[in-house]
Amino acid sequence: MELDALIVGLKEIVSPIHKGPVRGKEMGMLRVIKRANIGIKDGKIAYIGTEKPPALRKIQAKGLIALPGFVDCHTHIPFIGNRSSEFLMRLEGKSYMEIMENGGGIFSTVEAVRKASETELFQYNMKNLVEMAHCGITTVEGKSGYGLDEKSELKQLRVLNRLNKSQPIDVISTFLGAHAFPHNYRDKREYLEYLLGFTDKVKEYTDTADIFCEKGVFEPDESRRFLKELVKQGFRIRMHADELVNSGGGKLAVELGAVSADHLIAADEVTLETIANSDVTAVLMPGTSFFLKEKYARGDFLVEHNGIVALGSDFNPGSCNIYNPQIVIHLAVSRNGLSVEEAITAYTANSAHVLSMADSKGLLEIGYDADIALLDMDSYIDLPYMFSRKIVTATIKKGRVIAG
Ligand code: NIG
Ligand code: FE
Repeated sequence: MELDALIVGLKEIVSPIHKGPVRGKEMGMLRVIKRANIGIKDGKIAYIGTEKPPALRKIQAKGLIALPGFVDCHTHIPFIGNRSSEFLMRLEGKSYMEIMENGGGIFSTVEAVRKASETELFQYNMKNLVEMAHCGITTVEGKSGYGLDEKSELKQLRVLNRLNKSQPIDVISTFLGAHAFPHNYRDKREYLEYLLGFTDKVKEYTDTADIFCEKGVFEPDESRRFLKELVKQGFRIRMHADELVNSGGGKLAVELGAVSADHLIAADEVTLETIANSDVTAVLMPGTSFFLKEKYARGDFLVEHNGIVALGSDFNPGSCNIYNPQIVIHLAVSRNGLSVEEAITAYTANSAHVLSMADSKGLLEIGYDADIALLDMDSYIDLPYMFSRKIVTATIKKGRVIAG
């Protein structure tokens, strides 16, 4: 069999030990193969070893470290516009919630997204994806949630779909109609009923739904009925949970068998233990803690209690204008208490699991998609230390170099 491509001269090939979900201490057990090559056939990994089997193309990677391409399982693309003034307001003492309650925050991006044409939204986020590819990202999740009405929510989902088809990174969609409460409804219950009224159309784009379950937004008692109805309709559930206040979202995620509880910055130990004892993946996004000057979720506690931890960026114009996994991994190791190995597993195998892609993404193993980040470091343990250095030498997607 002739390979389509052979990546030659790698110093280390680094992979989680098995597909996601990887729990607790197993997250820290990477498989490292030294001085080897990776063969690719039909977009998949077909060979790993020290030999040089025949290949149509060679990709020179002398001295580089190969990692599975990063899977960012939580972003808020497609958005448009800039909220730097809010960032400065927060530094002067205004809180994220205060800004939102006064019509800014999420609502200001809603206004911008509603106004933007589909083409504008598409082009703006194409640029985001090109930048992400240069950071070694090969799969990205994005959500609606800046529409808050049927027309604009579906517009965001259509744009995600078009982005997926128009460039190499896989783009996975989530429905987040329950991102904020638009005040033209009598109450939250009425708005959530409204959202349920067009979920048949949402289903054309995604089978995953999310909610901003938080004190002052949708509290657990307001969220429960809505989420149960979504489960009945066949949706997988994810939740923004206990992001700013320990308000019961994480516990509700376990009660409802959600795929993930995301953020958990403010979650107390009982909540974290409940999540760690369940099949709910804790998605940690330290970029948001950094950007909002908040605390950091207890990643070490979740690992010690045998939990499943994934990492994501939360890239959005308000609470986290960060998409670079190098920065997120630096913070995960230095602030959330994950080891380098755990952070790598969290950003690859476990984030692929959150997106139901654990059988094809997140590992460097024969049969897996040839989605690979080639990094210029002495060893994978340098990753958090290399915070701001340009170490992504090439990003490979299904066997093709897409950035670098
Ligand atoms: O994950 N918490 C809700 N949503 C985003 C922020 C969105 C925004 O501020 O535009 C988050 O932090
Ligand atoms: Fe988010």
